[in-house]
Amino acid sequence: MIDIHHHLLYGLDDGARDLETSLEMAKIAIGDGITHIACTPHANNDYSFFPEKNAALRAELQEKIGDRLTLGLGCDFHLSYDNIEDALAHPTKYSINGKRYLLVEFPDFGIPKNISSSFYEMAVAGMVPILTHPERNLTLMQKPEKLAQWLRMGCLVQVTAGSLVGGFGKGPLRIARQLLDWGWVHIIATDAHNITSRPPVMSKAYEFISYHYGAEEAERLCVQNPRSVFLGELLAEQPEPQRAFEEESAAPKKRGMWSLFRRE
Ligand SMILES: [Fe+2]
Repeated sequence: MIDIHHHLLYGLDDGARDLETSLEMAKIAIGDGITHIACTPHANNDYSFFPEKNAALRAELQEKIGDRLTLGLGCDFHLSYDNIEDALAHPTKYSINGKRYLLVEFPDFGIPKNISSSFYEMAVAGMVPILTHPERNLTLMQKPEKLAQWLRMGCLVQVTAGSLVGGFGKGPLRIARQLLDWGWVHIIATDAHNITSRPPVMSKAYEFISYHYGAEEAERLCVQNPRSVFLGELLAEQPEPQRAFEEESAAPKKRGMWSLFRRE
């Protein structure tokens, strides 16, 4: 399996706190069947993002771990004004392995203003946003169909492995399964932060998907699509997302004059 969202680099953010933790996380990941990890530290108001520092840490860890695990680089990208401007000016600075895909961190509460225009500008600059853990966002938990507008723009969706097996509670579990039912998920990733509460484990989600949706779906979400993202290649043909191209059913209906004559 290939994990494209992982806070493995130590001492940068709320992920691994020291070298020992990073190495222990790598060991757990290897034991779980993970072969590649994109190290994706936060870039937000709390944590600054320094590509050179990240590259040095990645190289240090890769040397210590050896070839049992291949490490790449990326960013858990926060949609702030400054970040977006910088990413538009330097499209490969934050993307996974300097290629086309960019992890976009969804907050736990609310939806950032102007998010659609930001996604549009990113697409024009050649980036493919990957929306991370929408199943953990309170607004989208109420109305997951809101995601459809960004799917139609070509954004991809990443669900957290732990959400599928109850690691984030009943709400994210229900929404994660709903999104799988609709075919709105492209990638599963661990978003691992440590070895206890947020461990680097994908195998349980893989087994869950394999059991309920079939082995091909587990391979698509945990191996094939993440590999394409890691390498910066186009995804193979994907199943059509159900309902995503319908008119927004949740939008309030406008009641103009014609509605007086129209049967609903
Ligand atoms: Fe993250």
